Formats: sequence, C-alpha cells, structure tokens
Amino acid sequence: MKPPVKLPVENLAKEPYATILCYPHTKPEEIDSRISELKSLGVNLVEFTGNSLAANVPVIGKGYVGIVIIAYLTNRNEPLALKIRRLDSGRENFFHEAEMLQKANNVGVGPKFVAVTKNFLLSQFINGDFLAKWLENHKDVVSFRRVIADILEQCWWLDMSGLDHGELSKAPRHLIVDNKLGVSFIVDFETASIQRRVANVTSVCQHLFVGNNIIPRLIWETMGEKNREHIIDALRNYKKEKSRENFETLLQACI
Ligand SMILES: Nc1ncnc2c1ncn2[C@@H]1O[C@H](COP(=O)(O)OP(=O)(O)O)[C@@H](O)[C@H]1O
Ligand SMILES: [Mg+2]
Repeated sequence: MKPPVKLPVENLAKEPYATILCYPHTKPEEIDSRISELKSLGVNLVEFTGNSLAANVPVIGKGYVGIVIIAYLTNRNEPLALKIRRLDSGRENFFHEAEMLQKANNVGVGPKFVAVTKNFLLSQFINGDFLAKWLENHKDVVSFRRVIADILEQCWWLDMSGLDHGELSKAPRHLIVDNKLGVSFIVDFETASIQRRVANVTSVCQHLFVGNNIIPRLIWETMGEKNREHIIDALRNYKKEKSRENFETLLQACI
C-alpha cells in the first residue's frame, strides 16, 4: 500500500487529486466550486490512503456514485469519511442519501452522519475490513456469533423503522467490521428508500447464509454446517410476519 498523503483542500486543484475531486475527468470549471463547497463544510485537510485506487491514488473506497477519502474538519483530529459525488454518477446530489443515513442513525445504524452538500457527504469513518475479510481473519465461533447477531439485529431495526437499504443482498462492500471495536457497520444508503417494502433482514440472511458466495462458506467452515432448510423456513415465516418472535427464531436458526 502506498504511504498516506495528507493535503490542505486547496491542493485538490492539482493533479492527480483534481481528477479524484471531479472523478472520472477533471472539469476546470467545477474544481474551484467544489473546493469552496468543501471549505463551507469546514473541511481543511484531506488524506489519500486506503485499499482502493482512483486515478492511481489510494482512496478508502470507490463506488459508481462516489469516491470515499478521509477528511478532517478545522481544529479536529478525528478522521471522517468524505464521499465525493462522481460526475458520471447519474445522481443530482447527496441529499437523499443524507436523509436516509440520518433515518438509519435514528435507530443506531450506519456511520454517524456529519454534514452534507450537493457534492459531498461527511460521515463517521469506519476503520475496518469488509465482512468477508474480517471472517477470514477471525475464525472463532464466539466472535462470529457476536458479529453476525449484531448485523441481523441492525437489519431488524432498519426493518422496524421502515427503511430498506436496497443493496444488502448483493453487497459484500456494504458491511464493514471496525477493526478495534469488532462492531459491524452497514454503509452506503444511496439506494435506500422508505417507499419500498423492507427486506433488510431477509436480504442480509440470503447473503450471509443462503447465497453462493464466499461468506456462507466462511461461516460454515467456522460455525459448522447450518441447516439451510431450517433457515429458509424461518425466513419465510419472518417474511410473512415481521414479529420479534419470528425474528428470534430466525436468529437462532442462523447462529
Ligand atoms: N463511512 C465509511 N467509512 C469507511 N469506509 C466507507 C464509508 N463509506 C463508504 N466506505 C467505503 O467506500 C466504498 C464506496 O462507498 P459507497 O457509499 O458504497 O459508494 P457508492 O454509493 O458509490 O457505492 C464502500 O464500499 C466502502 O468500502
Ligand atoms: Mg456502494
């Protein structure tokens, strides 16, 4: 991994950082206004580090809507996650995502919302690994149970609040486990909605226990083979009636 580079926001006007600020192509007329927008948020420093690359520079994450880097507010040492709207994102702004993230925060889910403007979303930075990598590095039943129960519990709270995340079934990139605390975070509320039928618990169970990806395999290797039929039955009941009782039966079947 390349060493981290910390810069004042003014330096984002220079390449290769300008390309990241206006990903995927630098747009001269956009640079100054984006830098002013960052200053209006109180951001004075940004940091380029992480396991993803954008314009050959390390960043925390790269999706189709945004590039995520670390940012610091004036007089504060705490690193924050800064999501930068891509010019080719097909989204007008981050206001919907910010509203959904705040609704999730109201039930204790997601990185804490900090601030939003048209092109930037600031939130708590989760220093951790994607769930699959975390599972690979912690092959121990007690930790697995704790982390999985916590993820399901968070999804239950989202279901109860009427907020559907929307990208939990096919989303190994949206579950991050904080390295120090061993706590899971659901990220990216970009496609979240309060209009759709909620399917957070069912989607995440599909992804963790039923689907054909690496995560069910990792879970079974450590926790022993699960009775899939049992989980699918419990899922079906929960889908019919989202009661706490049905949720707990499902939780038991899973862990
Ligand atoms: N608050 C955060 N803390 C740490 N990493 C984050 C945070 N938010 C997003 N990321 C990382 O950045 C990646 C891209 O962010 P995401 O919100 O998923 O963008 P997109 O909407 O473009 O998919 C995520 O997959 C995740 O790895
Ligand atoms: Mg994403």
